[in-house]
Amino acid sequence: MNFLAISGSARATSTNTAMLNAVSDIAAPDHTVTVFSGVADLPVFSPDFEGGALPATVEAFAKMIRDSDGLIIASPEYVRAIPGGLKNAIDWLVSRDEIIVKPIVLLHASHRGDDMLAQLRLVLATVSGRFMPDLFLRFSLMNLSARDIAQTLQDPTFAQQIKAFLNDFETRCASQYT
Ligand SMILES: Cc1cc2nc3c(=O)[nH]c(=O)nc-3n(C[C@H](O)[C@H](O)[C@H](O)COP(=O)(O)O)c2cc1C
Repeated sequence: MNFLAISGSARATSTNTAMLNAVSDIAAPDHTVTVFSGVADLPVFSPDFEGGALPATVEAFAKMIRDSDGLIIASPEYVRAIPGGLKNAIDWLVSRDEIIVKPIVLLHASHRGDDMLAQLRLVLATVSGRFMPDLFLRFSLMNLSARDIAQTLQDPTFAQQIKAFLNDFETRCASQYT
């Protein structure tokens, strides 16, 4: 299966993006996890765009979602909420058909951020009929470098958790009941 892993952080040294990159490495060769870290490239959504030509970055983003079997989202918390860039990305999808039946799960790179997680769960349960809140994995990676994150997650216990998470997600993506 081909999963698209969306980072909610626009930071070059984002721990969420680094975690998703490490997950992509651990996933191979059993699963393909493609990391999208381009929320900052999407213009601010307006309903005025609807019905007309979309910006190229939005078209490309929507195509990546359409071509994926499921989404993995990982995001920081900003001011106890979803960062604007990620919420904007989701807003672009709301009146389109890519997200409605797309399986979605969350990964999280921090021991903090539960207000953001609660909001994101509400938003994702609203835009997708196949958001799976019970399938969730978090690691305490705040302030670590990308190298340290990759090393930490290569620990056999963590790597096994990640593989089990992806296997569960694949099973549930393939099932018509979840
Ligand atoms: C503008 C801003 C607001 C933040 N607000 C919160 C917050 O409300 N609660 C929290 O736990 N962390 C907050 N943080 C910390 C980030 O969520 C945290 O550093 C996160 O791990 C960064 O993720 P990243 O490395 O993927 O960018 C904030 C950081 C920034 C830059």
